[in-house]
Amino acid sequence: MQTVISTKELKSYYVLDVFGREKVVKAVDDINIDVYENEIYGIAGESGCGKSTLLKAIFGIIDPPLRLIAGKVLYFHNEQVYDLYSLNSDSRRSLRWKFISYVPQGSMNVLNPVVKIKETFKDFLDSHLKGKTKNEYYEMAKEHLTNLGLPPKILEAYPHQLSGGMRQRVTIALATLLNPKIIIADEPTTALDVVTQRGVIQLLRDIQSTLMNTIVLVTHDMGVQATMSTRIAVMYAGKIIEEAPTTKLFQDPKHPYTRYLIHSLPKFGDKSKRSSAPGSPPSLAALPPGCAFHPRCPYALEKCKSEIPALRSYEPDHKTACWLMEER
Ligand SMILES: Nc1ncnc2c1ncn2[C@@H]1O[C@H](COP(=O)(O)OP(=O)(O)O)[C@@H](O)[C@H]1O
Ligand SMILES: [Mg+2]
Repeated sequence: MQTVISTKELKSYYVLDVFGREKVVKAVDDINIDVYENEIYGIAGESGCGKSTLLKAIFGIIDPPLRLIAGKVLYFHNEQVYDLYSLNSDSRRSLRWKFISYVPQGSMNVLNPVVKIKETFKDFLDSHLKGKTKNEYYEMAKEHLTNLGLPPKILEAYPHQLSGGMRQRVTIALATLLNPKIIIADEPTTALDVVTQRGVIQLLRDIQSTLMNTIVLVTHDMGVQATMSTRIAVMYAGKIIEEAPTTKLFQDPKHPYTRYLIHSLPKFGDKSKRSSAPGSPPSLAALPPGCAFHPRCPYALEKCKSEIPALRSYEPDHKTACWLMEER
């Protein structure tokens, strides 16, 4: 399996000044992941666990109050390894545009409302390619949309004339215009109704299979994770607590938190009340000692209250950060 992105003991915290006192939000806390070529790597977990911050750190946009505290992000591109944060901002930017593309959370609402979609596409192409005529850029945009199965006439529309689902598809089309090796998408289906979600999911799937690229998909929706992702990493309080191929994760979840996430999914025909984890996630500025999940965990051991479990492979391809695994 060819790795395309790797994070090494990555820590990225928000360092805030609250009335003269420093408050540290440990949003990405010691994360090691390897994303492979041609896979859809899912990142799951409740709201506020650090998913979006992890994507920002992977993409290389760490601006105050977010800080890179420790660790590395490595890009594997054209037989070379690039240590993202050792590059200056110009080299980082030029490496990025062919390698990786980012669809931020809520991006469907950030298309420029006063210009037609085609102007946005043209400006994007012009800023990266330069030297072509307007018409050549429009032709490229048209061809790309056609390849993705989207109607080229949407280029003539203003963003407000499109539905939310179509706007989301347009932002994804824009992000894939230069055929990046990796697309990172943050909650691309979250604001959409179920029917519209399906169209966006299908588009991402088609992109992955036709362009043969890698997708890093952040969504808290385990149903979407189940249908889309090849492998899934579950985040809790800034850490990955379990990672496995999708089928394994759903068939044999090891971490009690993962089990809650999966069991909170509604099942067809089942009218019993779904159980979600008791209590609520901790503040990332005041984490409990030991395993951050222990106050909500029905199986917590003494050890869980004081020592942080490491993410380890207890079975091939299946990593878990839980002291219960150690006891088995
Ligand atoms: N700009 C910011 N300043 C301070 N704290 C932030 C900022 N953005 C996010 N956070 C905090 O960082 C934590 C992780 O947030 P985020 O990465 O957005 O999580 P998720 O995407 O999983 O919902 C949360 O506690 C959130 O409140
Ligand atoms: Mg988010």
